[in-house]
Amino acid sequence: MNTIMAHSAPNDTNGTEQRNMVTIDDLSHEELHTVLDIAARRKATAPAHRERALAGQTMAMLFEKPSTRTRVSFETGMTQLGGHAIFLGPDDIHLGHGEPIRDTALALSQYVDYIIARVFDHSDVVELAEYATVPVINALTDAAHPCQTLADLLTVREHAGSFDTSVAWVGDGNNVCQSFVVGAAMTDLDVTVATPEGYEIDEAVRTRAGELGTAPTETHDPKTAVEDADIVYTDVWVSMGQEDEQDERLKAFEGFQLTSDLVGDRAVMHCLPAHRGEEITDEVLDSEDALVWQQAQNRLHAQNGLLLWLNEST
Ligand code: CP
Ligand code: NVA
Repeated sequence: MNTIMAHSAPNDTNGTEQRNMVTIDDLSHEELHTVLDIAARRKATAPAHRERALAGQTMAMLFEKPSTRTRVSFETGMTQLGGHAIFLGPDDIHLGHGEPIRDTALALSQYVDYIIARVFDHSDVVELAEYATVPVINALTDAAHPCQTLADLLTVREHAGSFDTSVAWVGDGNNVCQSFVVGAAMTDLDVTVATPEGYEIDEAVRTRAGELGTAPTETHDPKTAVEDADIVYTDVWVSMGQEDEQDERLKAFEGFQLTSDLVGDRAVMHCLPAHRGEEITDEVLDSEDALVWQQAQNRLHAQNGLLLWLNEST
C-alpha cells in the first residue's frame, strides 16, 4: 500500500493485541458498525448516561496543528468516560525538538493508555503506532481524518435512517474526503466525488475503497455530482499546511463553491472549520438543511464509541 494511506496492522509486540485507528480501515466492516452502534446507543442516553468505563485511564494528545472540535471532543469524552486527557502541543514535549517519534512512542506507552496524534505527515502517525504499545488514534494527518469519518457516518445514518442514501463530495480530494470515501465503501454508502483536475483523491485510496466495497464515482463537474445526491459534503480548499498554495488553490476551485443554486434543498455537510465565502456560502452553511452542528456534536459520541470499543478489545 502507498505510504500516504498506510494503515496499521494489529500489533502484538507486547503480548496483547494492540489496536490502532490510523486509517478508518484499521477497523473491519463489522467493527466499524459496532463502534457506530455503541456511539448511537450512548448518544441516545446522554447526558444522563455517564459511564466510568475508563476510570483511571489516561490519553496523551499530541497536536502539531490547531484544533477546536477534535481536541475538545476528545478531552470532554475522556472526562465523561471517567478518564483523563493530557494535551501536548508542539512546544510541550521533545517530539519535534530532537527526540525521535520512536522514542516518544516508547516513553508515552509507559504512562498512558491511549495516544491520539494530529500531525502533518501521515507517515509520522504510522511510525507512532508501530512503536507505541498502546492504541494510537489518528486525529488528522495530511492524508486521513478517520475520527471525522466516524462522526460523518453516524450523521449520515441518523439523517437518512440507514446508509441507503447518496453523498456528493464537492471540493478537494483531501484528508477528510479520503477517509470518508473509504468509510463509505465499508458501509455501502454511495459517494460521488467532484474535484478540479489535479485535486483528486489518491490512487491508493481509490483502490482501497474498491477493495473494501465500491470505489467512488469521480467527476470534475460539481453539477453532475450533486444531481442524484441526497447530501452534499465539502471541506476547505486550503488545508492546514497548504497555506503557501492558497492563491493557486482558490483559482483552481472556482465553480466548486456550495451555493444555494448548486445544492438546492439537499442536506449539507462540512467537517468544519469552514472558510465562509470560499467553499461554502453563509446562506448554505446557516441553512436548516445543514447537518454541520450535528456532525460536530457527533465527533464526541463517535469517539466515545471508539474509546469504549477499544477498551473492550485491547
Ligand atoms: N473537523 C475537525 O477536525 O475540526 P478541528 O480542526 O477543529 O479539530
Ligand atoms: N482538510 C482540513 C480539515 C480540518 C479539520 C485540514 O486538514 O486542514
